[in-house]
Amino acid sequence: GSVPEHTPKEEFGDLVAALPRRQQSILELRLYQGFWLPEHWVPGTIVFQRRFSPRPDDVVLASYPKCGTTWLKALAFAVAARGAYLPASPAHPLRRLNPHDCIPFIDEIFAAGEHGKLELLPSPRLMNTHLPYTLLPEPVTTGGCRVVYVCRDPKDMVVSLWHFLRRAKPDLSFAETFEFVCDGTVAAGPVWDHVLSYWRASVARPDRVLFLKYEDMLCDGAGSVRRLAEFMGRPFSPAEEAAGDVAAVVELCSFDGMKGLEVNKPGAGGGTAGRYRPMPRDAFFRKGIAGDWANHMTPEMAARLDGIVREKLLGTGLAF
Ligand code: A3P
Repeated sequence: GSVPEHTPKEEFGDLVAALPRRQQSILELRLYQGFWLPEHWVPGTIVFQRRFSPRPDDVVLASYPKCGTTWLKALAFAVAARGAYLPASPAHPLRRLNPHDCIPFIDEIFAAGEHGKLELLPSPRLMNTHLPYTLLPEPVTTGGCRVVYVCRDPKDMVVSLWHFLRRAKPDLSFAETFEFVCDGTVAAGPVWDHVLSYWRASVARPDRVLFLKYEDMLCDGAGSVRRLAEFMGRPFSPAEEAAGDVAAVVELCSFDGMKGLEVNKPGAGGGTAGRYRPMPRDAFFRKGIAGDWANHMTPEMAARLDGIVREKLLGTGLAF
């Protein structure tokens, strides 16, 4: 008979157990290559780093959790799928599926030992990750792959994260969540190092790494969609522009539109998305605005987090 395959968790158990550890609310974190990763992310990350074979036309969608992952996945999917589905089409998959069910989460696929599934995807492949740029496999960062990153005002990220984590741990306090973000011991943190890893890459390789901000996307949806499409090598043609396809993508992926879908309604028969920690699909659509931090933190807290981030970003050309 054949030798049974080890799961990544079994294969790299010793390596993971040797990493610095920190318990933080519902997550056990391990310090891996300079970032605090939830322990259950680490084995899949190692396999991803060692065994992922990128294709030159791959598009990797990257983000810090709660900074616009779901939205970016929807927009990139709508842009890439234009040949098969007009964005205004009532039959568009994004009108019946959650974006997380349209685009695979690379880290989770590797953690589950299912990376064979990635090989089966037709080109150009769209995938997403929460890993910082410096942890991406070397062939991704030196090769032809395109990477799109979305970031967000860290204050709004904290608020979004707190609401998200409360779905799993209702008694989690905002103050505690705020502290571990400021401290850097948060999933995929420190957040400023995560953002900077992609910012620096986008400066060094602008043709390969596109850096987007959630707030800019809110202000200028159409401009963001055009930039994304150009970067992905699929600019809107004059005919598509004339047909209003850019606006149709913005509309298809709008917060209200997606939140209102049957599959994303609370308690909808839609079940859950994600395998690390399956979440009800409505958990990915809360308010979808900029500035909700003002409803959750004192001016002192805001100034403190702003101060930390400002200091870390000093001289990098990036600011929030
Ligand atoms: P809020 O909690 O502030 O509302 P992620 O997708 O990375 O988990 O981020 C989730 C955040 O993005 C949530 O922020 C969510 O409401 C918001 N979001 C989800 N879909 C969106 C969309 N289509 N447009 C704008 N924001 C969206």
